[in-house]
Amino acid sequence: MTRVVFNPFSESFRRNPYETYSALRTTGPFRSLGMWIFTRHADVKDVLRDRRFSSALIPSLVHRRLDEFGMSCPEVTKLGQKAIVFTDNPDHARLRRLANVVFHPSQLESLRPLAATLVQQHLKSFATQARGDFVGQVARPIPLKLLLSWLAIDHEHMEAVATWNHAIRYFLEPGAVNRSQFAHIYQSLTEFLAFFASYIADRQGRAGADLISQMLVRTSKNDGFTVEEAAYMCVMAFVAGAETTQALLGNAMLLLASHPAQLNKLLSGEVAVSRAANEILRFEAPLQMTKRVAMEDVAVAGVNIKANDQILLCLAAANHDNDVFADADSFDIGRSNSELHLGFGYGAHACLGARLAQIQLESLLEEIIRHRWQPVVHEAPRWQRHSQIMRGLDELPLDLQTQGETVA
Ligand code: HEM
Repeated sequence: MTRVVFNPFSESFRRNPYETYSALRTTGPFRSLGMWIFTRHADVKDVLRDRRFSSALIPSLVHRRLDEFGMSCPEVTKLGQKAIVFTDNPDHARLRRLANVVFHPSQLESLRPLAATLVQQHLKSFATQARGDFVGQVARPIPLKLLLSWLAIDHEHMEAVATWNHAIRYFLEPGAVNRSQFAHIYQSLTEFLAFFASYIADRQGRAGADLISQMLVRTSKNDGFTVEEAAYMCVMAFVAGAETTQALLGNAMLLLASHPAQLNKLLSGEVAVSRAANEILRFEAPLQMTKRVAMEDVAVAGVNIKANDQILLCLAAANHDNDVFADADSFDIGRSNSELHLGFGYGAHACLGARLAQIQLESLLEEIIRHRWQPVVHEAPRWQRHSQIMRGLDELPLDLQTQGETVA
């Protein structure tokens, strides 16, 4: 039997994790790096829907690291307690009930025209250049500006917000964070919360359509977001929704550039935009992994998990499982069941902003179709190195060439 090596820090894994995922799926759940590694679609789904697995692992690891460093960072500790993604029931059920109202698909759909305008503006200026960095000039600003607009905050704050946001996201991977980086997370989070606090104070009592006002309307009823919860929810919207969507847009462009026959199916109208978007999410999931910890002894997927065992759920490996997706390692833009991907998670914690990310990707695809653009990439892709759980490009230099007539 071949020994499977799982080293998410290696350069070869960064370049192509899918060969390793394939070997791991054949092996089934196994222990490595002090965790159980789950890669099969059915097994990952089983854990995601099982409430005996807690989402509070990362805050407990952060707590341990802060203890090791003898540091006290109250806002950082509180992020672990207040951010919906790390809560378990009953706190999660309450926050999710409130969040489902403000993140309702109809609310997110109302942002579609704005997403389309942002995509058009950024692509228009991008297309005038001979070669530009699609990630820096298009994929990065669009989600940041869309979120700022949803919160009714001026785009002039984009760079400050992006900087705070990038610093805070390291919270998600505490094992790799040293003392001075924790101090940086703490400072950035404190500033980010103070930034939102001024808008929250300003919006009290106003019935605006923006996310902050909507969250505050709910606080005026018997049960609603507290002011503090609303501030942490603003932070979460950026931490969960900006760099992930940036990665998604960049990955989409690289996939289309490197699969011209699939791009043609999109341009010819053979495949609907929503179906193509699901296949892109399935094939190159921006968030490759998430974690859980067992709250009790649990038998799942043929293995006996002990209370407090940590589980790494490889969402991207599940998305390439041949048991669910025929010829899963091939990019097939017309695939009929690509919506079964786990790129947005599954179950109680399934992504609240999934529709918003999809809207941005669909707007990008629609604009490509309208102009009959053919992206041409001249260099090998440079996958980002700062995160073990994300898959996205640092930069993507490309030309947009036009294929045939532009659709008016
Ligand atoms: C391509 C973009 C995105 C990807 C790949 C993504 C992925 C995910 C995944 C996998 C989860 C589940 C995590 C888990 O169960 O441990 C999640 C949860 C979440 N996402 Fe997203 N997300 C994206 C965009 C967004 C956007 C745009 C927002 C908000 C504006 C958002 C907000 C959230 C929130 C609040 C949760 C926590 C839900 C809960 O715990 O109940 N995400 N996301």
